[in-house]
Amino acid sequence: MKEQVKVSVPGKLMLFGEHAVVYHYPCIVTAVDQRMQIIVKPIEKKKFILHAPEVGLEDYSKGLRDLTRGRTAKGARFIETGIKNFFQKFKLRQGLRVKTKAGFSAEFGFGSSAAVTVGIIVGLARLFKIKLLKKQVFELAYKTILDVQGVGSGFDLAAAIWGGTIYFVTGGQKISPMRIKSLPLVVGYTGIKADTPTVVKKVAVLKQNNQKLVGSLLAQISLLTNQARKSLLQGDFRKTGELMNLNQGMLDALGVNTKELASLIFAAREAGAWGAKLSGAGGGDCMIALVPKEKRLKVEKAIKKAGGKVIKVEPNAEKAKLETN
Ligand code: MEV
Repeated sequence: MKEQVKVSVPGKLMLFGEHAVVYHYPCIVTAVDQRMQIIVKPIEKKKFILHAPEVGLEDYSKGLRDLTRGRTAKGARFIETGIKNFFQKFKLRQGLRVKTKAGFSAEFGFGSSAAVTVGIIVGLARLFKIKLLKKQVFELAYKTILDVQGVGSGFDLAAAIWGGTIYFVTGGQKISPMRIKSLPLVVGYTGIKADTPTVVKKVAVLKQNNQKLVGSLLAQISLLTNQARKSLLQGDFRKTGELMNLNQGMLDALGVNTKELASLIFAAREAGAWGAKLSGAGGGDCMIALVPKEKRLKVEKAIKKAGGKVIKVEPNAEKAKLETN
């Protein structure tokens, strides 16, 4: 067995189709170069020990028999459940010390839960020399996400496992990498952390109360996402921006927009963005704007002036990978 394994996993930004992707429709997601590092080390003790300072955990520990039993710290749930699922699938048991190092704040909505889940599975596969296909990593990680939070389409896992920009349908029914040359995005953070499962449940209630209306809105988002797939592949930023604005209107209708998101989105559009929308569940987190090169500075300034924080990220980032040393 190896001494220790280090995995680095990209974060993600949703470009199109959030919420609709929960209901068996497609979305488009891009991996971003702000990354999470997960270090997995075998130990003698029959324990799982976690050091994850970014979620306030230092030497959090559980006996191997008690994984996911009793009280599990919030910040440990994905890694602990991932280990349990991996051990169960491959009939293994091994004491482990796990360390995480976040290159981005868990507040941004860049998918830190998905990133650590993918990181622990890729790390364990390497440690035990088990060769897994990307789809197998996805399945184990997706089971883990559903075990922990009950909801989620798995798009963020696909971004972490495949990297780049991906056309994705719920639960990995379809995962198609898209060849995109450039994606000039500006990202603005509202300063408010959104809780994805809460927002997803809120949309579910709205849908239950308005089956036809919300059903057709989600179908419209799917139509739009398919058009965005084409405009992105053609490098048609004007069209892509227009579709972002349309998507934002539909997300607003679903009730997931906020005052803060809206003011950053309007500021970006007024400063010359081709288009702008929220990214992810809504209710807070980040917005994205597609921006001509000569307008970037102006858009960034406008976002700051409107109360946002500009986050420097590059889209289309590399997939989860092992790091040497
Ligand atoms: C959250 O970032 C995106 C949602 O579509 C939820 C999901 O797909 O898991 C709202």
